[in-house]
Amino acid sequence: MDQQTLQVQLKDLPLGSVGYFPVLESTNTEALRRIEDGAPHLSLIVADEQTSGRGRRGRKWYTLPGSALAFSLILRAEESRPISASRLTGIGALAVCDTLQNIYDLPAKIKWPNDVLVFGSKLAGVLVEAQWQGDKVSSAVVGIGINVARKSVPSQGDLDLPATSVETAAGKPVDRWKLLRQVLLSFLERMPQLELDEFIQSWEAYLAYRGQMVQLIEEGVEPITGLLLGLNREGLLRLKLPGEEMLIFQAGDLKLRQVDRS
Ligand code: BTN
Repeated sequence: MDQQTLQVQLKDLPLGSVGYFPVLESTNTEALRRIEDGAPHLSLIVADEQTSGRGRRGRKWYTLPGSALAFSLILRAEESRPISASRLTGIGALAVCDTLQNIYDLPAKIKWPNDVLVFGSKLAGVLVEAQWQGDKVSSAVVGIGINVARKSVPSQGDLDLPATSVETAAGKPVDRWKLLRQVLLSFLERMPQLELDEFIQSWEAYLAYRGQMVQLIEEGVEPITGLLLGLNREGLLRLKLPGEEMLIFQAGDLKLRQVDRS
């Protein structure tokens, strides 16, 4: 891939700008830098390889050359287009799920807040980094990483969850750039719904472990066990604790785990 070819492939999408890089530290870092430089709404940064890709809770995200998708979209809020930071993780994960489901016929699920799973294994993650003005998001970066080829799957020792790739799950070769285009199309199609109740319903429809017992784990704190009910209007997790009312949890540094049913 190169800058010009990618630009041609995506020219019919209403993107603010397209930047392709053979190597970057992190597409999110580059996108945050470009926000400072005035990059327009819906600017896209894509890298073939990341040397310092990052995930939630300070974790590393590996992007080997020629094997995965790593990209970030810049969003700018306006009076008529407010951005809810907690919903943005949802839109990134939804766009990946829509594509896996509709194009590759894969039963994609979202492990709240940001992991995309197929058959219980993770193949994509979303990292949202927002910039605030007072209590409002002024701009944000939605970074999406997808394991596409088999060799993009990191070694299991580094991971919380079993991992897979789109090619492994689909059982056939997958064109990374067609996949990118499709995820962007789904993202752009979902964007107008971002602030609507229907958006939360779509997100909930993909939610993993709904109606099942899960644990919320935070370092240095006793894990919380409860029944996963769904999401609230902001995309925060609704959990019913044994013998208690429903409680709401913000992603923060929390890790979600399914309670072993064996
Ligand atoms: C996670 O699973 O915790 C989120 C992973 C997000 C990875 C993507 S790859 C593109 C963008 N650039 C980064 O450094 N991170 C995100």
